[in-house]
Amino acid sequence: MDTAVCRNEDRYFRTLVKMMQSQAYRELAAVQAFGYGLSLVPDLRNLEYFVWQVHEEVEHYKAVARMYIDFTGESIEPAVHERLASRPVPFAQSYYELAMAQFLYDRGGYWQLREYQESSYLPYRRIVEEIIEDESGHQTHGEQLVLQLTKTGEYESEKQEHFERWLKQGLLSFGRPNSEGAKYAIRVGLRKRDPAVVMQDYLNDIKSTAAQCGLVVPSLAAIGIDAPSSVEPAVSGAKSAKAELHGAIGFYEV
Ligand SMILES: [Fe+2]
Ligand SMILES: [Fe+2]
Repeated sequence: MDTAVCRNEDRYFRTLVKMMQSQAYRELAAVQAFGYGLSLVPDLRNLEYFVWQVHEEVEHYKAVARMYIDFTGESIEPAVHERLASRPVPFAQSYYELAMAQFLYDRGGYWQLREYQESSYLPYRRIVEEIIEDESGHQTHGEQLVLQLTKTGEYESEKQEHFERWLKQGLLSFGRPNSEGAKYAIRVGLRKRDPAVVMQDYLNDIKSTAAQCGLVVPSLAAIGIDAPSSVEPAVSGAKSAKAELHGAIGFYEV
């Protein structure tokens, strides 16, 4: 095998390692964030749902961990815990914020994993199908909850701040737009499209619910998301006074 091919294969390997570590990190972050959030859930029916979600996030984490060990021969856990320690996931502080996290963070996972449905690494294709279905259920539950809670009128003063915080976390699911890593991943069939395009789909997808809730989709720059100007907020962009206060767990890699 010539040196160029070896180098390319090495890059393919390293890219997959990064993708798996990033996904595992976000799955474990979901376990922790929604596990923490159980103390905020006020009724049995929703408690049951959130407990089920935590269980599913553990299963997602396990599926990626198993794929990683088959691929590398090593445990994914040290890398994931190290990353979580350096970039801890924000925890919702109210039930309303928890609903917003479920709506926007899980929807980010849903859109990101759709990019892997035709992965040139076949084990990835196999695991994403089931995870996508679960994430679809999670974000739909969160969306309905946000709509229902917003209608009560009790969250007017805080709704925009929570929306922006979790919108940012959702957008970080897609990776850095136009990066060399993303271009390579597309070229070798590890993802379908550039993160910028996926961001736009995600923004279009939340548009109607945001409008129904009287939420303003900020410009991406205002919430600290580095994206090309071609990516437009679904509703005309507004400046976010609170953007600098929002913690971020960092762009998904690749
Ligand atoms: Fe998940
Ligand atoms: Fe989820």
